[in-house]
Amino acid sequence: MVIILKPGADDKAVAAALQGLGLWTQVLGGAGQAGMLSVEPHSAQVGVDQLLLVDGVAEVRQPPSPHPRVDALPSIYTLACRSGAQVTLGGPDPVLIAGPCAVESKEQIFDVAQHVAAAGARMLRGGAFKPRTSPYSFAGEGDAALQWLADAAAANGLGVVTEAMSELHIADVAKFADLIQIGSRNMQNFALLAAAGAQGKPVLLKRGRGATVLDWLMAGEHLMAHGTPYVLFCERGIAGIDPATRNTLDLSAVALLRHVHGLPVVVDPSHGVGRRDLVVPMARAGVAAGAMAVLVEVHPDPAKARSDGAQALSYDQLAELASGMGIAPPVAIRGAAPAYGSRFPEFYKRTVAERRRTLGIQAGLSATARDYLRRGGLDIDLADKMSENVISTFALPLSVALNFRVNGRDHVVPMVTEEPSIVAAASNAARMVRASGGFRGDATASVMTAQVQFDHVQGIDAAAEQLRRRRLEIISAANDAIPRMVARGGGCRDVDVRVLDREMGLLVLHLYVDVGDAMGANVVDTMAEHVAPIVKSWIGGDVGLRILSNLPLRRLVHVECDVTAEMVGGPELADAIARAGRFAEMDPFRASTHNKGIMNGIDAVALALGQDTRALEAGAHAYAGLGRDYRPLSTWTRTETGLHGALEMPFAIGTVGGSTQAHPGVRTAMEIVRVDSSRQLAVVMAAAGLASNLAALRALAGEGIQHGHMRLHARKSQAIELPAKKE
Ligand code: MEV
Repeated sequence: MVIILKPGADDKAVAAALQGLGLWTQVLGGAGQAGMLSVEPHSAQVGVDQLLLVDGVAEVRQPPSPHPRVDALPSIYTLACRSGAQVTLGGPDPVLIAGPCAVESKEQIFDVAQHVAAAGARMLRGGAFKPRTSPYSFAGEGDAALQWLADAAAANGLGVVTEAMSELHIADVAKFADLIQIGSRNMQNFALLAAAGAQGKPVLLKRGRGATVLDWLMAGEHLMAHGTPYVLFCERGIAGIDPATRNTLDLSAVALLRHVHGLPVVVDPSHGVGRRDLVVPMARAGVAAGAMAVLVEVHPDPAKARSDGAQALSYDQLAELASGMGIAPPVAIRGAAPAYGSRFPEFYKRTVAERRRTLGIQAGLSATARDYLRRGGLDIDLADKMSENVISTFALPLSVALNFRVNGRDHVVPMVTEEPSIVAAASNAARMVRASGGFRGDATASVMTAQVQFDHVQGIDAAAEQLRRRRLEIISAANDAIPRMVARGGGCRDVDVRVLDREMGLLVLHLYVDVGDAMGANVVDTMAEHVAPIVKSWIGGDVGLRILSNLPLRRLVHVECDVTAEMVGGPELADAIARAGRFAEMDPFRASTHNKGIMNGIDAVALALGQDTRALEAGAHAYAGLGRDYRPLSTWTRTETGLHGALEMPFAIGTVGGSTQAHPGVRTAMEIVRVDSSRQLAVVMAAAGLASNLAALRALAGEGIQHGHMRLHARKSQAIELPAKKE
């Protein structure tokens, strides 16, 4: 991109202003280039409008990119896999993709799939058709292997990555693959790229051994020009000069794609180095360089592999790799469905006593929980322990939202709220979504962020560098503070150092801590306080705040759903809902109300389950405004059949620990919702948020909110005698 300066403008001052916006810029000095600056367009997200506001800038010239479709690839993408798995690429957690080089038999791939899933990998790779250098080598089991691969993935909730070698069988591969792999040797087989593009499915595009980055991006452009919606670029090593490793894994290209071009990139260290002892360290290096996923080969008995055995990991090495990447084992949402459903027709017409009885029996509630439903409230002695200066207790209605189906399981969703219509609206929207299979979602590992502030640090850049170098020492010191959490499999996973103000010597250390099923505030605060004096003894300065951040970017939940136009009341209403979603995307005034509608559902469940609603609210709104105009947390897009909704936000909640867990109402609500982990609960709560959002948009886009809301409000308030207002 070239900036043309106004006559007489000071090029150095303009360059400094542009650098202040985070752009890489250079004053051009060649013939005919007076008054011009060059700007690397990928170095920061700055719009042309903003550039034109910089003093001295007259014009911004953008040369056309040879790969415009690739440039527009999203930085975060969720693959909806045939098995039902939702795999988010580009989110805070790197994704592990693993499997054998070749699918050798049904037994082999089922065994591998089980171990791959247990390690926390999200996708299964495996070749059915193998390109081999020698015509006499094993070339794969073909079509039968595709079916085995898909069945093994489905049985373990994994996505499928498999290679298409020719146009002849591309349609068969596309039928089974969630990501069609185009191999290195075929990177510039343009006929195959066109055929793969025509399948309209996401593609993993390996870089050719002799391909430049531009060749590689242009191959991606070929795919997208023919219909591929998403390309994941795979660095698998280029031809080097040294046969000591199979190829040269070009990590500079990984960093370039991710950090400069902002493109989706995965690293394949197995082919990169060709020897299993180097796969784990190079995988880690790949993630450090910016890879959003790692693709590795694994075999039950590497010595007996029919192809590429030397580079295949054993199961133990795979588990080591996963834990080194900070990958948590999968969230237990594929467990056995509870014996009860979430549909109790005409529940609202029954008396309170009948509702308690139905729920108690059908949900198999314990005697204590049933007793609580009868009594309600909170014992004053317990209340006195929960807060200070207690004088009484204060009650709100406990209700249940029905019809929720989340990742194939039914959940009755407890809600505490004073606002009429929230419970009815969420139940109604959940019923509509249920007809299209229910909500789908996943949550990242429960990684909280703690911040330690240091002020008046001398030589701040050197201090920051020192902390980056001593990352492992910091992690180990941090873990010393929380031995019980470490014994349960949690602990500090990573650190970050941020220089916030050079003049003030203000530096902030981030600790990223896996807190398992806890909300984790106490754990990370303890850790931050423990680490602070140790780090101060290294870098000097004064210790400032030591506290968690309520913007836990490494603890996100993602949930989505489809709903037919017929269910929401017809195509016109579906159009209007999509337009309402767009309105929120374009306007922060609307986005804040849109997000309030989401939090109506989430806060109501959070209160019932004793969660910290203020932490959830703080995270939600900070995320909505992160690095851009304030935006809606959810999006609604029109599809051929109706609408697709998706919601993503930080989610700090817990199912263990915390004083509120002593509350008998919270324990009863936990029995009702039936989840196995905090990650599963996060998905259910986010589904309640998305349902509330859909219900609100449907009402607003149709007859208006007052109609249904006021009807319910009137019905409820008829029975309530309000005290006369004192003048
Ligand atoms: C009211 O509590 C919530 C709504 O305003 C949300 C929205 O406007 O989307 C109806």
